[in-house]
Amino acid sequence: MSDIATLEVNGQKYDFPLIKGTENEVAIDIKTLRGATEGIVTIDPGYKNTGSCESGITFLDGEKGILRYRGYSIEDLAEKADFLEVAYALIFGDLPNKEQLDKFHTDIKANSIVDDDVKKIVDAFPKAAHPMGVLSSLTSALTAFNPSSVDVSSEEEMYNSVVKILGKFPVLVAWAMRKKQGLPLDYGDSSLGYVENILKMMFKQPNEEYVQNEILVDALDKLLILHADHEQNCSTSTVRIVGSSHAGLFASLSAGISALWGPLHGGANQAVLEMLEAIKEDGGDTKKYMAKAKDKNDPFRLMGFGHRVYKNFDPRARIIKTAADEVLADLGIEDPILDIAKGLEQEALNDEYFVKRKLYPNVDFYSGIIYRAMGIPVEMFTAMFALGRLPGWIAQWREMRLRKEPIGRPRQIYIGKNLREFTGINER
Ligand code: ACO
Repeated sequence: MSDIATLEVNGQKYDFPLIKGTENEVAIDIKTLRGATEGIVTIDPGYKNTGSCESGITFLDGEKGILRYRGYSIEDLAEKADFLEVAYALIFGDLPNKEQLDKFHTDIKANSIVDDDVKKIVDAFPKAAHPMGVLSSLTSALTAFNPSSVDVSSEEEMYNSVVKILGKFPVLVAWAMRKKQGLPLDYGDSSLGYVENILKMMFKQPNEEYVQNEILVDALDKLLILHADHEQNCSTSTVRIVGSSHAGLFASLSAGISALWGPLHGGANQAVLEMLEAIKEDGGDTKKYMAKAKDKNDPFRLMGFGHRVYKNFDPRARIIKTAADEVLADLGIEDPILDIAKGLEQEALNDEYFVKRKLYPNVDFYSGIIYRAMGIPVEMFTAMFALGRLPGWIAQWREMRLRKEPIGRPRQIYIGKNLREFTGINER
């Protein structure tokens, strides 16, 4: 294959180098396009064909259903690693040895106290506030309480910001949930593992000892690992682009949380459960909802189906489906919602509309079922996704800063009015 792509515009030819990744993905490097052609840009709404960066963090092949973090397969990581090891690998490049992991965890624990004044902000939110809005605001507010986290010019300063947010974010997630439930806002227990501590912070009742349930610890660990990174998705691209202005890690993450909130992205896990509930309330007629999903005049979409990148299957969905079966069996839960989910899945997998468009269940189709079995309220599902995605966002932000990427600033093609005369208010 030649390593040059040639573009011809109005009889004039321009050459652009091809660049190849370590997994042989090829891109046309158009960095010089606008300068060479005196103003021509590319347009690609939704960035379906546009690579925004070169990255060494996550590899995925949507056709083959492959997902790897730092070269490690998602199947291996979900089975053999814990969330903190995966977080370390994502952020720093390799799985940690015992000493590195211990230091990482110790530093995170040392930074897990959130200024008590943040509770006043939590108090000011109405109980009905969506936890994602609360989380995004609190994460941004952390900047004010930790101003040194913004101007990070050395790797050491970056490291300090990273362990701070890894320590404090689970506290904020727990507070966002407990606020809704009218429970006291508490700090974690630094004698516990990272994931055990999260569960205790979320579920501890003020008048009872909290007893860890290993099934829940394992299930949450796996869910967080499966959500930990997914290369340049909507929220990650948001984190990178906000961070590219050197706005600071916490502000960038806050923007990422807002991007994740949308039902076409992380909000889908909440939407899936609400959809399954609605189908159950409506008599459990999955065929009716299949027909609605296929009807172009009906805005309804089968939530938890389809993916921008996976056009074969979502490898995370495969792992999570098995985990959902195990967790429900271990906890002895029989959930009619699961039967509806399985029915919908079978119908969709055999339906021409879905087969033709390569629409398969994605990770969110099953994650909500596990969260529900764990006793996590539906409105918290996307916040749990954010908790899992945190190391991925951090890794991507850190990579972008270390590579000294330029500020993100796309171009456009203007399609508005041409110059026109100003008219005074009485003449309009
Ligand atoms: N139900 C019914 N039809 C669908 C669905 C669905 N869930 N998803 C896609 N389609 C159809 C579209 O109507 C379109 O049909 P057409 O070609 O006849 O017009 C075709 O499939 C392609 O869909 P696009 O929207 O162009 O695909 P895109 O890659 O832009 O969108 C997305 C991907 C947003 C995930 C989409 O499949 C969707 O809305 N799914 C439901 C929401 C969801 O589950 N989101 C979670 C994504 S995973 C994550 O964020 C972790």
